Amino acid sequence: MSANGSPTGQQPTATYDSAFLRACRREPVPHTPVWFMRQAGRSLPEYRKVREGIPMLESCMRPELVTEITLQPVRRHDVDAAIYFSDIVVPLKAIGLDLDIKPGVGPVVEQPIRTRADLARLRDLTPEDVPYITEAVGLLTRELGATPLIGFAGAPFTLASYLVEGGPSRTYENAKAMMYGDPQLWADLLDRLADITAAFLKVQIEAGASAVQLFDSWVGALAPADYVKSVMPASAKVFEAVAGYGVPRIHFGVGTGELLKLMGEAGADVVGVDWRVPLDEAARRVGPGKALQGNIDPTVLFTDKDTVEARAREVLDAATGLEGHVFNLGHGVMPNTDPDALTRLVDYVHTASAR
Ligand code: CP3
Repeated sequence: MSANGSPTGQQPTATYDSAFLRACRREPVPHTPVWFMRQAGRSLPEYRKVREGIPMLESCMRPELVTEITLQPVRRHDVDAAIYFSDIVVPLKAIGLDLDIKPGVGPVVEQPIRTRADLARLRDLTPEDVPYITEAVGLLTRELGATPLIGFAGAPFTLASYLVEGGPSRTYENAKAMMYGDPQLWADLLDRLADITAAFLKVQIEAGASAVQLFDSWVGALAPADYVKSVMPASAKVFEAVAGYGVPRIHFGVGTGELLKLMGEAGADVVGVDWRVPLDEAARRVGPGKALQGNIDPTVLFTDKDTVEARAREVLDAATGLEGHVFNLGHGVMPNTDPDALTRLVDYVHTASAR
């Protein structure tokens, strides 16, 4: 590993010194860096055009297409980081699970994981299972220059929620019933998923990703005590597995106000915050030694420019004095968002935060 945290020693100094990576490391920045969860995707007409007729999961396996889609929001919005275009279920597809992403629905699993015998279907992931990732990350880091690339994966709980339910759910009744009722089966399932997730993140880092984000989008459904007992060990295993690379590790979930401190303690360097908790309060909950990411409500982008800017100002004010702040939405860009509103928001954050 090189001194600047790049596993291959190839991370250019300009990337290492970018505002995004500096903020993740809690170093001084020339301006608050900004990127958006789900910045690549349906809000962009150029995305809808290149995706035409290509199923979501297939598009994730074509390196040139992944590269183009990942670069689109960087070109258009001048964001401070790119996020690799993929989906949280890609590693599960790559190890042979029969699943698909249904338009307007989300991931659907043909045969849900419900019994001990089902665990045998979750084999280890190797780099050979995802050659398109190594290739696309290589193409991307060359194209991106100084702009860092964020790799990502779904966290064990959120992946398990899809695998056990068989698809999206509002209540997670099957997953939580397994967690409460058969804690050993649940622990073994999450441990399998932790290994797969860690292997998947390692592929991205070794190919050149400068940071990783672990999405535990749905873990806000749990009480803190259950998080500690039934989820944190698996998430911590993922973070620990990639700790040696020295790249920032971001952890995000929705409705996780009561879990922010624990999600930091699981091993994150940067804790993502949704719009429900102001960043100054989030900093008190998380405690010292972590940067924060967030947290404007994505629906604010459906208002006028002045309202968006006033809300962005509030986020920047709440972040004053934070050790490190990466500006983002509190959850992903919604498909009907006007892309120009995103471009204007990036410009506003850069200007308003310039030091
Ligand atoms: O720009 C980026 O952020 C990278 C792309 C990205 C996608 N999925 C592409 C995608 C990322 C980071 C994800 C992660 C993801 N996928 C999460 C965690 C983030 C979050 O939003 O909480 C989750 C829970 C999923 C599961 C998933 N995949 C859902 C809920 C959906 C939406 C279903 C729908 O159609 O509304 C998907 C499909 C998906 N993933 C799309 C995209 C661009 C839409 C499919 C399409 O464009 O046809």
